[in-house]
Amino acid sequence: MRDIIKIYPNGVRANREVHFGIRSGEIHALVGENGAGKSTLMKILYGVERPSSGSIFLRGKSVHINSEHEAIALGIGMVFQNFMLVPSFTIAQNVVLGSEPMRGMLLDQRAAVKITNNLARQYGLVVDPTAIVDSVPVGMRQRVEILKALYRGADILILDEPTAVLTPQETRELFAAIRQLVNAGKTIIFISHKLREVMEISDRVSVMRDGQMVGTLHTSDATESRLAKMMVGREVFLQLDKPTKERGVAMLQVRHLEYVNEAGREVVRGVSFNTYSGEILGIAGVEGNGQTELVEVLTGLRKPVAGTVSLGDHSITGLSASAVRLSGVAHIPEDRLTNGVALNASIDENLIVDRYNKPPFSRAGFVSHGAVVKHGEKMIDQYAIRAPDGTLPVGSLSGGNMQKVVVARELSANPKLLIAAQPTRGVDIGATEFMHQQLLKQRNEGVAVLLVSADLAEVMSLSDRLAVMHNGRIVAIITDVRNVSEEEVGLFMLGVKQQTQAEIEANW
Ligand SMILES: Nc1ncnc2c1ncn2[C@@H]1O[C@H](COP(=O)(O)OP(=O)(O)OP(=O)(O)O)[C@@H](O)[C@H]1O
Ligand SMILES: [Mg+2]
Repeated sequence: MRDIIKIYPNGVRANREVHFGIRSGEIHALVGENGAGKSTLMKILYGVERPSSGSIFLRGKSVHINSEHEAIALGIGMVFQNFMLVPSFTIAQNVVLGSEPMRGMLLDQRAAVKITNNLARQYGLVVDPTAIVDSVPVGMRQRVEILKALYRGADILILDEPTAVLTPQETRELFAAIRQLVNAGKTIIFISHKLREVMEISDRVSVMRDGQMVGTLHTSDATESRLAKMMVGREVFLQLDKPTKERGVAMLQVRHLEYVNEAGREVVRGVSFNTYSGEILGIAGVEGNGQTELVEVLTGLRKPVAGTVSLGDHSITGLSASAVRLSGVAHIPEDRLTNGVALNASIDENLIVDRYNKPPFSRAGFVSHGAVVKHGEKMIDQYAIRAPDGTLPVGSLSGGNMQKVVVARELSANPKLLIAAQPTRGVDIGATEFMHQQLLKQRNEGVAVLLVSADLAEVMSLSDRLAVMHNGRIVAIITDVRNVSEEEVGLFMLGVKQQTQAEIEANW
């Protein structure tokens, strides 16, 4: 790809004269901060976005890729981060979708299963062809996406953040499959924010920053910190400075909590644990094992069917979200777009939604505009929110900066308990570093922090204790987080291993 420029209709210059070259048969990683332009560049290669200018050469020949269809015809396949499968179809149906083997007017189911099995065997991508996509784990869905691209004849396979949602075991399986694909002559482009993975799997790595290509290195010449510095443009501290800290009282006490969802399924099953002041209790687990619902019950967004929740000496069981908040609980929600911010409201407004009716923001029933603006300025400065001023709608910020608005609001409420759900999902290395420092700062100041994250490396490095959820239950509480391996935690996450009830209770 040469001199690629992409200016979106809204004026954003996502790619600025980018040069990007891949060699046949290599695993080429592409890294960069949020908004650096990685996905845009790959969408141009896959024909779903047109470059404003620039050219693409494939095997020495100039090509024009105007659609996904044309990319596929040229042997280019892409797996997007948000999967595009049909959830109600079987795996085999999804693999062949678009060029189905037919028997008369109907899909030839048996042929589809056979095709899927053959491909799966050939590349070591284990799937169950007759299973409905909706019912299989994320790791398998991803393999289905890859098989689908292979079925359509991909030689160059673009994987956009494929490991973001995988357990260590699944990541290892994916890497084994990637190596097998390369042995079979395929070329892989691998996008990730996880530099450790990039170091492990790639042959070369290209770094983008602010729409430009900063450089391409042989991975053997790279280090995590060198890559981080190239991405961010400054030194980044990858190692967390976590002083030891005596924990305080059991601030949050959860006992035998049960929750049944709208579909009548028990998704939180007899969950009990404490979170102490001055500690970070991590909750690890593959997504979809009840963590989301647990957090929503604790924060008053859903009502439990049984069990108790107390904060200090007070029961907060079944209270409304605003009552829970008033009693001293801050919440960084998993889905910041629906629960975290009001997109059309300004940054200033978002920062005070929970306290607009209190001084200094409200005086004698009137909102003090001056106080709101002043608070906004202070937060933008203190939390390094990248925005010219507080009047901007939050919806126009990048993901990482939206997250900072939420964090600024929640932490400035001086909580007793902070519940952070997936606080760094999809945010880049600079914003992640910031978020981690903030969580540790709260803990060091004596706040009880409950951290729920599907990123195992993250929960393991931040947590003082680690609970693992599987299938709605807490299956382990690990007190010696420093001396447990990711693999072992992964076994708990997959439900292969679990502690006895007595062991868990001893670690409440
Ligand atoms: N369809 C679009 N219309 C307008 N602007 C867009 C569009 N898609 C992306 N952008 C903007 O282009 C820039 C580059 O975005 P892109 O998605 O390529 O970044 P990225 O490197 O993939 O980031 P991330 O790590 O967050 O996935 C960002 O400023 C983004 O807001
Ligand atoms: Mg992207």
